Formats: sequence, C-alpha cells, structure tokens
Amino acid sequence: MTMPISVFKVAALLFFVPFTLFSSSLGGDTLTPTQHLTDNGDILISAASSFALGFFSPNSSANRYIGIWYHNISLQTIVWVANRQHPIAGSSGRLSITTNGTLVIADNSTVIWSTFSAAFANPIARLLDNGNFVVVEANDNSNNFAWESFNFPTDTLLPGMKIGWNLTSGTNHNLTAWLGDDDPSPGGYVTGVDFRGDPQIFIWSGTRQYWRGGPWNGLRFSGIPQMKLDMVGCDFVVDSDAVFWSYYIRDFSLLQRVVATSSGHFEHQVWIGKRKSWEAVGFVPRDECDTISPCGPNGICYPTREPMCTCMQGFRPENTKSWDLSDWTDGCVRKTELDCHNRTDFGFFTQSNMKLPDTSRSTVDWSMSLENCRALCSANCSCTAYASANTSGSGSGCIVWTTELTDVKLYDSGIGQDLYIKLAASDLNSEEPDHSHQRRLVIIILVLVATIFLVACGACSIWIWKKRGRSNADEENDQVQDMDLPFYDLSTIVNATDDFSSDNKLGQGGFGPVYKGKLEDGIEIAVKRLSKTSEQGMEEFKNEALLIAKLQHRNLVRLLGCCIQGGERMLVYEYMPNGSLDAFLFGDETKSVLLDWPTRYNIITGISRGLLYLHQDSRLRIIHRDLKASNVLLDKDMNPKISDFGMARIFGGEDSEDNTRRVVGTYGYMSPEYAMHGIFSVKSDVFSLGVLILEIVTGKRNRGAYYYALNINMIEHVWNLWKEGKVLELIDASIGLIFPTAEVMSCIKIGLLCVQDRASDRPTMSSVVKMLGNDTSLLPEPLQPGFVISSSSSAVDSSSSKKESSYYNTATTALKG
Ligand SMILES: *[C@@H]1O[C@H](CO)[C@@H](O)[C@H](O)[C@H]1NC(C)=O
Ligand SMILES: *[C@@H]1O[C@H](CO)[C@@H](O)[C@H](O)[C@H]1NC(C)=O
Ligand SMILES: *[C@@H]1O[C@H](CO)[C@@H](O)[C@H](O)[C@H]1NC(C)=O
Ligand SMILES: *[C@@H]1O[C@H](CO)[C@@H](O)[C@H](O)[C@H]1NC(C)=O
Ligand SMILES: *[C@@H]1O[C@H](CO)[C@@H](O)[C@H](O)[C@H]1NC(C)=O
Ligand SMILES: *[C@@H]1O[C@H](CO)[C@@H](O)[C@H](O)[C@H]1NC(C)=O
Ligand SMILES: *[C@@H]1O[C@H](CO)[C@@H](O)[C@H](O)[C@H]1NC(C)=O
Ligand SMILES: *[C@@H]1O[C@H](CO)[C@@H](O)[C@H](O)[C@H]1NC(C)=O
Ligand SMILES: *[C@@H]1O[C@H](CO)[C@@H](O)[C@H](O)[C@H]1NC(C)=O
Repeated sequence: MTMPISVFKVAALLFFVPFTLFSSSLGGDTLTPTQHLTDNGDILISAASSFALGFFSPNSSANRYIGIWYHNISLQTIVWVANRQHPIAGSSGRLSITTNGTLVIADNSTVIWSTFSAAFANPIARLLDNGNFVVVEANDNSNNFAWESFNFPTDTLLPGMKIGWNLTSGTNHNLTAWLGDDDPSPGGYVTGVDFRGDPQIFIWSGTRQYWRGGPWNGLRFSGIPQMKLDMVGCDFVVDSDAVFWSYYIRDFSLLQRVVATSSGHFEHQVWIGKRKSWEAVGFVPRDECDTISPCGPNGICYPTREPMCTCMQGFRPENTKSWDLSDWTDGCVRKTELDCHNRTDFGFFTQSNMKLPDTSRSTVDWSMSLENCRALCSANCSCTAYASANTSGSGSGCIVWTTELTDVKLYDSGIGQDLYIKLAASDLNSEEPDHSHQRRLVIIILVLVATIFLVACGACSIWIWKKRGRSNADEENDQVQDMDLPFYDLSTIVNATDDFSSDNKLGQGGFGPVYKGKLEDGIEIAVKRLSKTSEQGMEEFKNEALLIAKLQHRNLVRLLGCCIQGGERMLVYEYMPNGSLDAFLFGDETKSVLLDWPTRYNIITGISRGLLYLHQDSRLRIIHRDLKASNVLLDKDMNPKISDFGMARIFGGEDSEDNTRRVVGTYGYMSPEYAMHGIFSVKSDVFSLGVLILEIVTGKRNRGAYYYALNINMIEHVWNLWKEGKVLELIDASIGLIFPTAEVMSCIKIGLLCVQDRASDRPTMSSVVKMLGNDTSLLPEPLQPGFVISSSSSAVDSSSSKKESSYYNTATTALKG
C-alpha cells in the first residue's frame, strides 16, 4: 500500500524540476503522472479545440469544481463535473493522475475525489474532441479506456454518450440535474431508463416518477413525438446485456446537446451564437398531460381539450362525481366486462395517435408480427390491449398489456401510434355518448331551440309590428321570459338614463351606444342600446343575452336584465365606475399611474379566473372570442370584469375546436390559427389573454404605433428582449421603479407561454391560474411566439373588420419545438 505512493513520490521528486519548467505544456489535451492541473488558469484543451477541462465556479458561487465545457463558444457551458458533491472552497485544488492510472482531485493534501485504478503501464489522461475525458495507455490510440467520463454522466448527454443499463454489470447511466444554476450538486431530477417490460425513458423526481417518455418504437420515444429526427439520429439498443439510448448529430451546422435541467425538463438544445444562448428545440414535459397518468387508469389525456380527460372507447368514469369535478385520478372502468371464454364476444378497438400506455408491466416480443400479436392477445384472457413494438419500416414486434392502461395521451394526428384495445363486442361500435355528453347535448339543443324560437318570434314580431304599425309588448314579454331574465320597463330605462341624454353616454359598443343610468332605488346601471338598423347587432344581442344570463362569476360583468319594448332592444348591466382597462393602460399618464403593480397583478389574475370559469367551470363551456383591454371593465375597487359576449360561442360536445368562416374579433389579439384559418378553440382565448397580460405589464398596445417604426409588434419586441434577458426594460414606467421582479417576470413568462405559435404549446386556463397562483418553478420555457400583424398600418383595435392580415414568424421552422 505504501510502496506505490513512495514510488510515486520519488518519481515526482525526480521529475519535479524539469516539469515545472514545462508547466505551460498543460495547454495541450493530456495530463501525465508528472503534471498537476492547478487552479490558477491551467486547462486542458482537446485537439480540435472543441472542449476544455479545468477549474470553474458556477455563476455567483465561490466554490471551485473540475469540469468540462465547450471551448469554442462565448458562454461557459459546463457539460461534465467531476467533484460535483465535493466543492473546493479556495484555489488550493489540483487534479492529477497517479502512475497507476487513478485520477485524483486533492485540496492541499486531502483527496476529495478519485477514480479507480487501471492496469496500464504508462497511463495518461486525455481530453478528447467529443468531450470525453479518458484514461488511456500513453501511446495507445485505440478506444481502450481504463476510465472515461462518458460513463459517469452528470446533467448533459453529449453525442456518443449513453443513458441506460449495462445488465451484465448491473450499472446504470443516468442524467442527474444540477440542484440549481449555481450548484452542480445532484438535484432532484434524474433522467434515465427503466428496463422493465418494454424499456422506457423516465424523469424521476426523487424516487417518484415525474414524466414517462414511453417505450422506444423504432423511431422515437412514444412520449416524445416532437423529437427532431432531422437534426439528430438515435440508437436504442435492447438486448440481453444492455438497454442503452444514445444519439448522434445529423445536422452538423449546429452545436447541439441534450440536457436535464434543474427545473425538471429534459431538453434538446442548440447553440445560437448570435444570441449567445442555448435554445430548446424540443423539451419535455410540455403540458398537463405529461404528468404521470393525470386521467387515471383507462383514461385518455388530450392537452388542448377542456376538460382534458376522457375515458377510452368502451369505458366509463369509475367515480362519476369526482370525474365531473375534474378529479380524474380514479380513471375509468369497462362498461361491459369481457366475457373471456366466448371468443366471439369481444373485438379490438383501434385508438390512433396515442402515446402508448405504461409498458413497465407489459411483455414485448420484437420479432412477432402484428397479426400474431392480435392472436396472442385474443387467446390470453388477461390481455387488455396490444400494439406494434417497432413502427420503423412496415412495423413489427408485439407489446401486450395484461393490466389497466395508464398514462395514455392523445396526440394531434400523425405523430402517435395505434393502440388496439380489447373490448366486449357491445362496446366496440357504441355511438351512445356517455352521460356528460348527453347532458351537454341537451343544453345545446335547448339553447338552439331557444335561439330559433327567439329569431322566429323576433322576425314575427317585427313583421307584425311593421304590419300593424305598433309594437306588441305582450309577445315580447313572452320572449323575455324565455330568456329567464328580469325585464325592465322602457319608461324605467328612459327615466334612469335621462332619456338617453348625451351626458350619460359612456361610449359606443360593438352594436350600439352605452349609457349610464340610475334606477329609482339608487342602483347604478349601464344600458347597452342596440341600434335599430344593425342586423348583425341583433344576432349578437341575442347571443349575449342568452349566454351571459346563465353566467355568474365575480370576474364577469353581471347582466341585470333587459328591455325589449317599442322596437327598442337593450341590455342592462351593473355599472362599472372605473370604465374599461384600455383607458387606464393606454390613456394618459394620470390614469396609468393609478395602476400600480399589485393592481395590475390583481387584474391579470381576475381576468384569468373569469376566463377559466367560462372555459371550464360554468354550466356552459364558452369561448369568448373577443378578449381585449377594452372588453375588461373595472369596478370601484379596480377589480376586473370581462364584458361583451357578443362574439362568444358555446362550445359543445367532443370537438375541441371549431371552424368558422366569418373571422370576428380584434387583430392584435387573434391567435395565428384563428386569423389565418378561422379555427377557434379555448386556446385562441388563451392567446388573447397572453396578449392582454403582456399589454398590462408593458403598458403598450399590441400593434400600436409605438413599435411601428421598428416594423415589429409588441409581442415580438417582448420576445426579443426576453431572449436577451432584458425584458424588464419593457415594464410600464408608470409602475415605478420598485416592484417584485420575480412576480413580474413570471407574468411575462406566462404571457409568452399563452401566445405560443402552436395552440398545443399554450397552457390551458386551469394551468394559467395555477401558474399565477405560485407554481412558477415548473413553468416551461416559452418558445418563439406566433405573431399576427395587420398589413393595414392605421388600423388600431377595430372590431370585426375584415382586414388583410399577414402571418409571419421570423424563426426558422427548424427551431420550433
Ligand atoms: C473550435 O475552434 C477551432 C479554432 O478556433 C476550430 O479549429 C475548431 O474546428 C472548432 N471546433 C468546433 C467543434 O467548432
Ligand atoms: C493507485 O494509486 C493510488 C494513489 O497513489 C493508491 O491509493 C491506490 O491504492 C493505487 N492502486 C493500486 C492498485 O496500486
Ligand atoms: C488548503 O490550504 C489553504 C491555504 O493554505 C487553506 O486556506 C485551506 O483551508 C486548505 N484547505 C484544506 C481543505 O485544508
Ligand atoms: C457491461 O459491463 C461489462 C463489465 O463491466 C463490460 O465488460 C461490458 O463491455 C459492458 N457492456 C456494455 C454494452 O457497455
Ligand atoms: C442514477 O445513477 C446513479 C449511478 O449509477 C445511481 O446511483 C442512481 O440510483 C440512479 N438513479 C436512478 C433514479 O436510477
Ligand atoms: C447564472 O444565474 C442566472 C440566474 O440565476 C442564470 O440566468 C444564468 O443562466 C446562470 N449562468 C450560468 C452560466 O449558469
Ligand atoms: C357468445 O357471444 C355471442 C355474441 O354476444 C352470443 O350470441 C352467444 O350466446 C355467446 N355464447 C356464450 C356461450 O355465452
Ligand atoms: C397471459 O399473459 C400473461 C402475461 O404475458 C402471462 O403471464 C400469462 O401466463 C398468459 N396466460 C395464458 C393463459 O397464456
Ligand atoms: C425495427 O424495424 C426496423 C425496420 O424493419 C429494423 O431495421 C430494426 O432493427 C427493428 N428494431 C428492432 C429493435 O427490432
């Protein structure tokens, strides 16, 4: 034991003098037993200068670590850390390799980190151009490494590194995220491979599964459909000795890496030299469906749908009550139990575009054909579903589940896989909708009937009125009663508004003027008066009356009643003394300074809650379609209330989006898919909310004249500064200099997430409300937003006009996640 050390000391003594003279030779890629890498600027640089190894301190920390980083880029990006659990306090550390091939980091004379030894005669350590730090025999150019850093990954997977299991030796390679930006010690998130069943990739948070990437299907992981296979290729090796995943670069024009971040994301990043930053081109988890089995056993999660969970074909909620309250964890059970022994009494339902269910308890056979797979599943009583194991080429292999199907996600078409679910024959083609659909259907039919009735009666009474030359108040009263709304006498309204005096005019709404009034009992009201000539107004009037009468939420403006008499059609609302938000945001400074940060934050959360209620919690599910600053009213305490439901649509049934030929709404707040293709969904409201949030924070109108000189809109401006880390420059000056930076930043981030180009990348309203609540640690990084601008420069905020719009997005498509 003492012998080798003394030999080493002798050797060190013998060579001490000559090697200190040549200490500058450490500029190479090699460390020999006669050298030390000390903490005074010594680094090893790989042969082609791509990587460097030396001491570093992460960010603001004073601790010293040995690490490897890219030598060629302007931001020191650490890809590997040796002593991540044993930092050195001062500059007294040094790295050396002993004559028996052990790498040692010592602080003064205390060894704080070391590797095992190698049976080499002349071991040296070398930093290779792929970022691997290896111990090799001095003159051996083969890949015979005694030790290599690639076998001890930290948080970064470089091309050529592997994660997974060596089943022979029982060793496991995984990525363990840093604890934080300035602390490389092992954090809570670990990304690795679970080899049970059909092997899958996972992120664990501690010992808990946090995200499931699903099995390898020959092309990609079932749970990462967005993998950029044009930029990287993958190797997934499954055999009796090993289960490994690794990737190689296809597009060499970009520097790329895969990293497990301290916030729990698994990201594919590219280096954007111009911006001096790493940009995620793909990352998981992405949405609410990416938590582990949010819809419970046999449920299907679809992130852009509200509610996001449904039962699989042939299944019904196990616990209807909690299911209806959006607690889906109990999942679904079969409508009809399988009669296992009757071969004719069951069949398979093909569910397309799936992220395959958890395969850790399933069995996989890589050589079996899909036909034999079906036969196997038919013959085995306990089989619940099967799928192809290898979708590459014409498809092959067989996965068989004998358990409940958990953690299933539905993708937009074209990226998921077919899953064949075994069902009782009676459940196979059942068109019969489940009860919640029935209820929804009934509501829709009722509303439709009411609308048709109203239109018919309206047309009828107009006809009668024209014919008789007088109104028929009784008939109109009947219509009003159908709407279940309190009815105001025309004379009451005339008195309250001083006969619609111009002094009482509050403004001009989409379909007529709005007046302030005061009822005899002192209650203040706002009266929206439909102009008699407006045809479109009539439709919107009815829409609004029907919809809003059924809604009650403290962040929605309250409809008190209506008045249909003498050819007049009016809606009576509670009066909002502070008027609309846009007057505060974009008006003169005397008003905008009244919006301090707590008020703005309260407005943002209020609008979000109101919208969540519309989308999810109200009896009807409603898309507002025209959310904007001028449609947000403020009560006397500056609490926000969403108003103007003229454009709103009830959203029914299964469809999560609808297509409309008439694009209404306001440019600047319109999502790309709506402006371009007329497709609206709850996610188009989320987009409008994102614009509104960014307007509230910056005090600048999207598409306003402010940035016109730069020929970019407000969202793009926010995005550019966000990328540069200078987004706080944009905060409305009226907020003042002191504000909670973290809260403001998280609002901006949420705003950017809401205006993502693709609807599926935008959060749902329930996530937005959660994120605003406190849960900011898990906010994903926003990608490039979608921009819609109007080519008409003069138009600012004009409703329902058909202006030419151009949709552009400056990032290259390859950079979108
Ligand atoms: C790093 O830079 C050196 C010289 O500046 C260049 O020769 C080498 O190709 C670069 N390597 C990579 C991986 O970009
Ligand atoms: C290799 O060298 C280290 C440090 O000098 C020593 O601790 C270790 O026991 C040696 N191993 C062998 C196998 O000689
Ligand atoms: C190493 O030496 C430096 C300077 O003599 C001292 O400050 C430091 O505490 C020492 N570290 C250890 C671990 O002994
Ligand atoms: C697994 O480990 C054994 C023993 O350490 C080694 O011989 C073998 O090469 C390893 N296999 C792989 C695929 O790395
Ligand atoms: C990750 O790998 C390390 C080292 O092999 C191991 O100790 C740890 O248990 C692994 N973690 C998980 C979650 O697999
Ligand atoms: C340093 O910390 C800041 C904020 O914590 C972070 O944005 C930045 O990326 C960190 N830099 C590095 C090199 O980790
Ligand atoms: C098997 O199922 C078929 C179709 O449902 C039914 O007609 C038949 O009676 C069943 N046979 C038995 C033995 O249950
Ligand atoms: C059905 O499949 C399960 C899981 O593969 C297996 O354990 C069981 O033995 C099979 N049953 C029959 C009857 O083949
Ligand atoms: C998957 O199928 C492709 C094409 O048929 C084949 O090349 C590949 O080896 C298969 N993978 C496995 C793991 O069987």
